[in-house]
Amino acid sequence: MRVLLAGANGAIGRLLVPLLLNAGHDVVGSSRSDAGVAAIRAAGADAVRLDVFDRASTLRALAATRPEAVIHQLTALGERRFDQNARIRREGTRNLVDGSLKAGAGRIVAQSISWVYAAGEAPATEDEPLDLAREGLVGPAMALESAAAEFERHVVLRYGLLYGPGTWYFPGAWAAGQLRAGQLTAGAAVSSFVHVADAAVAALLALDWPDGVVNVVDDEPAPAREWVPVLASALGEPAPEVTAGLSAGLSAGASADASVGREGWERGACNAKARALGWAPDWPTWRTGFPALAGAS
Ligand SMILES: NC(=O)c1ccc[n+]([C@@H]2O[C@H](COP(=O)([O-])OP(=O)(O)OC[C@H]3O[C@@H](n4cnc5c(N)ncnc54)[C@H](OP(=O)(O)O)[C@@H]3O)[C@@H](O)[C@H]2O)c1
Repeated sequence: MRVLLAGANGAIGRLLVPLLLNAGHDVVGSSRSDAGVAAIRAAGADAVRLDVFDRASTLRALAATRPEAVIHQLTALGERRFDQNARIRREGTRNLVDGSLKAGAGRIVAQSISWVYAAGEAPATEDEPLDLAREGLVGPAMALESAAAEFERHVVLRYGLLYGPGTWYFPGAWAAGQLRAGQLTAGAAVSSFVHVADAAVAALLALDWPDGVVNVVDDEPAPAREWVPVLASALGEPAPEVTAGLSAGLSAGASADASVGREGWERGACNAKARALGWAPDWPTWRTGFPALAGAS
């Protein structure tokens, strides 16, 4: 299949290029820069230059590329620019989707997030309600998801927190700095993680999955008091004291669920659907995945 991989130089994208090529796809990766285009070509794929905030040139680039499928892995999260990231989800996705549909693409696989669900006690399944009150986070993610649903065939991957090479959770990266500065709290908030290599495999497989939303998370949603010390040890950074209270949240403004010492939406997600579709992560839990990061850089 002729696949446009939007964001081919990102943490997931660069692992996904060889997976798509090995599976026999005709891959065109996107980048905004000459250096990015050169890196994609060096990885063995074709490349197209596009900035999704430039609507006219995005439409032109897609008309010239004529993909059958689009994999959307664009973010501005490498630089932790959350305002720009929301803009990518709304405006950038709109332009990417319009250009792809006009160019004749029939399917999309798009990256979303798994911490969008409303409060609950257990890890969230895909059919549970969303926490629409967290408009700043959930609104742009839902704009992305509904734009993706305009394709005849569409799969949205609600990823857990990515860890591994190129991510925030890697020796020397953002989480290491947070630990050193005493800014990560080992409290009751539950998160779901996924290794970036497993995230890339899910995007390849999703080209053949039925339409819909799929949580792509590991088997073990866990409270920060369990995973933070393991991460700190793996990254060679000091571990904070374990606390019973709220941990550093992923969004501001949500109401605290004092009875359990976490915000209600800090509950992790369930991967039963992804596993039933045949996704079998090499790193089924952060308990073994984090220690494997030790010494890498
Ligand atoms: N679920 C999660 O936890 C999650 C999800 C995503 C990211 N993150 C965190 O953020 C880190 C970096 O993520 P990432 O690799 O996805 O981020 P990134 O490198 O900032 O962005 C990914 C790709 O998006 C492209 N891009 C950005 N803005 C664009 C625009 N306006 N038009 C066209 N392309 C654009 C970039 O391409 P060029 O630079 O080549 O133009 C880049 O290759 C991750 O590793 C992770 O730690 C977390």
